[in-house]
Amino acid sequence: MKGLILSGGKGTRLYPLTYTSAKQLIPIANKPVLVRVIEAIRDAGITDIGIVVGDTATDIERAIGDGSKWDVQVTYIPQDAPLGLAHAVKISQEFLGDDRFVMFLGDNVIQGGISPLIAQFADSDYNSQIVLTNVDQPEQYGVAQLGSDGRIVRLIEKPKDPPSNLALVGIYMFDANIFKAVHAITPSWRGELEITDAIQWLVEHDYNVHPYIHQGWWIDTGRPGDMLEANSLALEELTPKNDGYIDRDSEVDSRVTVEKGAEIINSVVRGPAIIGRDTRLVNAYVGPFTSIYHHCLIENAEISRSIVLENSQIRNVNRRIEDSLIGRHVVVHRSPIRPRAYKLTLGDNSRIGLLNE
Ligand code: TTP
Repeated sequence: MKGLILSGGKGTRLYPLTYTSAKQLIPIANKPVLVRVIEAIRDAGITDIGIVVGDTATDIERAIGDGSKWDVQVTYIPQDAPLGLAHAVKISQEFLGDDRFVMFLGDNVIQGGISPLIAQFADSDYNSQIVLTNVDQPEQYGVAQLGSDGRIVRLIEKPKDPPSNLALVGIYMFDANIFKAVHAITPSWRGELEITDAIQWLVEHDYNVHPYIHQGWWIDTGRPGDMLEANSLALEELTPKNDGYIDRDSEVDSRVTVEKGAEIINSVVRGPAIIGRDTRLVNAYVGPFTSIYHHCLIENAEISRSIVLENSQIRNVNRRIEDSLIGRHVVVHRSPIRPRAYKLTLGDNSRIGLLNE
């Protein structure tokens, strides 16, 4: 089998973080989502992986290279514009050939990996296997209607009146019949070739599409809130270790991972949390469900349930920062210069929540 990861797209819902860099490279518990996807596919025994890339191709190729760091071989498949998930399959036909394959959205995080689903599909004569999971608000997802025999009757994108709570998870398995489907369908009202339409085509043409119900958690990290949620869940699964330096005046929970070169000075860290490589905490408080990536500085400041990307600094801030997603090379500090006012240099589409005082 081969793997196909979709890592194009625009990531508009995560602006401004994803203006200049790929959303799939945002780290969850200090590991980029795309790396988690590659590892999940590799751990299921698949090493020949195609990655569909768009505007952020350079960024992704710089981070992943030829894949040898993860013992896989990566082939990049450029997509001119994000014309839909089924379009991404269409342009990957040459790479995929006649092989059965798993397609994984490069911004999805799933608990427990995909080995059981791959094993089930590889040993079967199914033409396709789709992964479903129970969700609270099915109207926000692609939803499956199952017949009394457990087979798929219909797939509906964001239904007003959902026939079930079973949403499509961003992991799909196909054989080469999917190419007939992606060539047969036409773009939807939003101008995209929809994968749900392609699967629906398979169902209507009597191909065997098997539903697999996933029981653990699954997160599509499209919006900032989803990123924080995925970060919390992934931190809870991390096996803590300390490869850095913690001074005697600091208090660090057992559920905290301290990466190489990190220094914790006179600070308190409550787990689950991760402090990245060469990051320094000085007179700081880092609360639960927080990931601080590499080469950051948190000094005289408090932060919890947040993600801070590399090379950022938070200094001398007298209010706790919470539920925040902070980008790369960001500086948040208290300005010593009068007048005492907020002085902001914010990119387009930045969001900042000020206190009513
Ligand atoms: P989406 O989250 O549906 O789209 P997006 O990344 O453009 O995000 P937004 O809606 O915030 O603008 O995409 C799911 C995944 O599939 C994501 O990793 C991007 C990828 N993708 C492609 O590679 N090609 C495409 O044509 C589309 C639509 C998505």
